[in-house]
Amino acid sequence: MQVFSEYVLKVSASLIRGLVIHLRLRDMEVLIQPTPERASELAARVVARLLKEKPNAVLGLATGRTPVQLYKELIRFHKNDGLDFSQVTTFNLDEYIGLQPDHPQSYRYFMEENFFKHINIKPENTHLPNGVAPNLREECRRYERSIREAGGIDLQVLGLGSNGHIGFNEPTGSLNSRTWIKILSQQTVKDNSDLFDNIEDVPNHCITMGVGSIMDASRCLVLAFGHRKAKAVANLIEGPITAMCPASALQMHKRTIVIVDENAAARLDYSDHYRWIDQHKLPWQRYD
Ligand code: GLP
Repeated sequence: MQVFSEYVLKVSASLIRGLVIHLRLRDMEVLIQPTPERASELAARVVARLLKEKPNAVLGLATGRTPVQLYKELIRFHKNDGLDFSQVTTFNLDEYIGLQPDHPQSYRYFMEENFFKHINIKPENTHLPNGVAPNLREECRRYERSIREAGGIDLQVLGLGSNGHIGFNEPTGSLNSRTWIKILSQQTVKDNSDLFDNIEDVPNHCITMGVGSIMDASRCLVLAFGHRKAKAVANLIEGPITAMCPASALQMHKRTIVIVDENAAARLDYSDHYRWIDQHKLPWQRYD
């Protein structure tokens, strides 16, 4: 009898778990905005809404040119409307190997300059992989562990490489990877060289959260602007799920929002459909 009731309990628990997961699943939400500025403002509203609902949220953050305006908007919300970061924890996606944290091209430096020093976040709550750790492999394991210990990422902000990479997860890499040491593709070295004096100065190695680590986030928010990203955006949203476009793994993610400007949306076959869906949302489904 006891065995039977234990069995019934187990089955009901797994049914309830299945139902909860099902209820949390959403379609990928594609929001096309007229300009990068409008897109960034909308993205900032998504983040701000989360922080109001959950002041101690864990944010996954990204670097690169794309999220700079998002950070500016969040700084504006902080200064003008008191958006509070005092209980927020952050984990960045990636860091170059070999650059000291105070190197102007390190991602730690980027985050301090473009975001952290302008808001009331506690420095000890901001995390990036340490690209100069004596034991890099242990550093990768430690980083994965700290994300788990913080309770996992509530919202992961992502830029998009022109080749479809997220973090530094380059085409053909595993769609199940965890935080690890990666070699940048030649395309990424070239794309990122504008931010360095010489292409030779771009490090070839990095530590990045894996696609699997990114997929664990409760929500993902992808931003992509400009014609240069149009092909990757089309592959991410409408292409097959393939390691040739690591971002396409997000088609399997439980709750991803993609915010793009008109130029980045230029190669989408279903852009009219995304606009239609957006126009017919119920008030509570909107961020603006
Ligand atoms: C870099 C970063 C990514 C970023 C991407 C796009 O390599 N590792 O996290 O999303 O490239 O960069 P940008 O926004 O400058 O186009």
